Amino acid sequence: MRIRTFDEYQTAYQKSVEDPEEFWAEIAQNFQWRKPWTKTLQWNFDEPNIKWFVGGKLNITENCLDRHLAERGDQPAIIWEPNDPNEAGVTLTYRMLHDQVCRFANVLKRNGVVKGDRICIYMPMVPELAIAVLACARIGAVHSVVFGGFSAQSIADRINDAQCKVVVTADGSYRGNKEVPLKNTVDDALIGCPSVQRVIVMTRTRTPVSMLKGRDVWWEQELKQVTADCPAEEMDAEDMLFILYTSGSTGKPKGVVHTCGGYMVYAAYTFQNVFQYEPGQVFFCTADIGWITGHSYIVYGPLASGATSIIFEGVPTYPDCGRFWDITDKHNVNILYTAPTAIRSLMGFGLEKVENHDLSSLQVLGSVGEPINEEAWHWYDDHIGKNRCPIVDTWWQTETGGILISPIAGVTKTKPTYATLPLPGVQPILVDENGKEIEGNGVSGNLCMKFPWPGILRTTYGDHERCRQTYFATYPGLYFTGDGCLRDEDGYYRITGRVDDVLNVSGHRIGTAEVENAINMHTGVVESAVVGYPHDIKGQGIYAYVITDDQQPSDHDAELTKRDILATVTRVIGPIAKPDKIQFVTGLPKTRSGKIMRRILRKIAEGDISNLGDTSTLLDPAVVDDIKAGAI
Ligand code: WT7
Repeated sequence: MRIRTFDEYQTAYQKSVEDPEEFWAEIAQNFQWRKPWTKTLQWNFDEPNIKWFVGGKLNITENCLDRHLAERGDQPAIIWEPNDPNEAGVTLTYRMLHDQVCRFANVLKRNGVVKGDRICIYMPMVPELAIAVLACARIGAVHSVVFGGFSAQSIADRINDAQCKVVVTADGSYRGNKEVPLKNTVDDALIGCPSVQRVIVMTRTRTPVSMLKGRDVWWEQELKQVTADCPAEEMDAEDMLFILYTSGSTGKPKGVVHTCGGYMVYAAYTFQNVFQYEPGQVFFCTADIGWITGHSYIVYGPLASGATSIIFEGVPTYPDCGRFWDITDKHNVNILYTAPTAIRSLMGFGLEKVENHDLSSLQVLGSVGEPINEEAWHWYDDHIGKNRCPIVDTWWQTETGGILISPIAGVTKTKPTYATLPLPGVQPILVDENGKEIEGNGVSGNLCMKFPWPGILRTTYGDHERCRQTYFATYPGLYFTGDGCLRDEDGYYRITGRVDDVLNVSGHRIGTAEVENAINMHTGVVESAVVGYPHDIKGQGIYAYVITDDQQPSDHDAELTKRDILATVTRVIGPIAKPDKIQFVTGLPKTRSGKIMRRILRKIAEGDISNLGDTSTLLDPAVVDDIKAGAI
């Protein structure tokens, strides 16, 4: 399973293209199957219909927990670092984690959960979050983790889309010096969620919460009623493992579906190879388990590999901007996996809180979530890796389940801002607007994949047609990523960013349409258009052009309306979707057919107003001058 030299990478890559089934079958042998598969791969990208390890039976938690007990039962599986460094942390060995997962799985069963039920998890970054995720997987329930920063409305939308039967949450969570009332938000969400029969509430902050008789139960009390004996449910390789919602260019977020067999194989294979994980190493991924990065590289990838994975509850700047480095030294972190936005924000604080740390345990550094700019790459390399740790710039998506394009640490020669080369099993292709392949090197185009890998999404929950439309219809026969990409003279790939109406704000994916819908819900708003613009720390900022029914508001009124709009967006989506800039306008640049010309709005938001290109097709070119004059 392990690649150790560039020659081995090339050999593996070639084999994976020539005989993908044989290639992945060999890798899948390294896992524990209840029953072997009969066909390694069945696929077409037209419906699409993708099945890996057909007929294979397994349970992912037997691979993440049970099979490690004999050899490394007493090794830490999870190290939990609380928000407050003065609070005692928790270390769970594989044996302890196995025990707790089985117990909580029995709690779920006691509360009526059976195989196939959907469970919404809305929790802080505590060990119990990973325990809840794994407990679902243990009994074949489908988890749908919702990031703790989303609003009640967002939770309700996700619960209703998947018809969740149970919600697992906590009273509250700690983030920096803030306390967030999670259960309260869940209560608001559940007003509109008739499918939910039970809410299991873990105690974290002990903030007062309402507990509805007949619906709400305490995690701790439930645990007293169960044993630690919970045999794993036998799952088909293609049974659903989880749903994770992600934003696209239109409509409400889609529930990306991953299944048991292929996802497990892919998450573990990429974890071990990209980071060159060695037994005994401590891995620290700073993402939240509410995102795919946390699913694949805090929970499933590391645990399926028998690694020690850190769960960090807090934020990089609390109690001060040295927190990541405190954690690195305290737990002797060997592999650190974080996001460019975090690096850029920490860069801004200078080197004082870096240089008073040792950091000598570090061996590999990872980056994920958005393009990493050259300056951040070098700062990471110079000051964190001390020029002795390879940096892996890992490109992938919620839909891909695991890393697709990335250096293999210490094996692939790196180049700042390049995700470099496809991993074995990954077949990228660049196409032009018409879907024609762009061959050769020194070219750029739209990034697609022409062959499935085991971690690819199988559907979008409850709406397979939407999955087809979104990913497989733009360029028939190909999976379309939505990203633009450059392939340089060496054949190295550099992701240049989204080519659709999706923003990447601090590594969070946000649809412009979603933000517009939220803004339009505000009483005084007639219409709005949202675009991204370059932001020093967030990567992209959100710029909103808004038409209100009061065309001549006083400065004071305009200021108040802005604040109301921010409150509305926070209420509808969550604080991560709040526009950074709001410009009130009297009209939007539209074509005669009524389409907003976002290209022009993007240019103005970027501050590049000299060359707006062809505006002759506009219905009313004069609105552009007004917008230019009022640009922020
Ligand atoms: C989008 C996916 C799974 C990673 C976490 C985000 C952008 C992700 C990189 C990278 C340039 C990147 C892409 C992609 N992206 N990693 N290393 N370099 N861009 O997952 O929320 O599904 O977002 O994030 O635009 O399409 P996500």
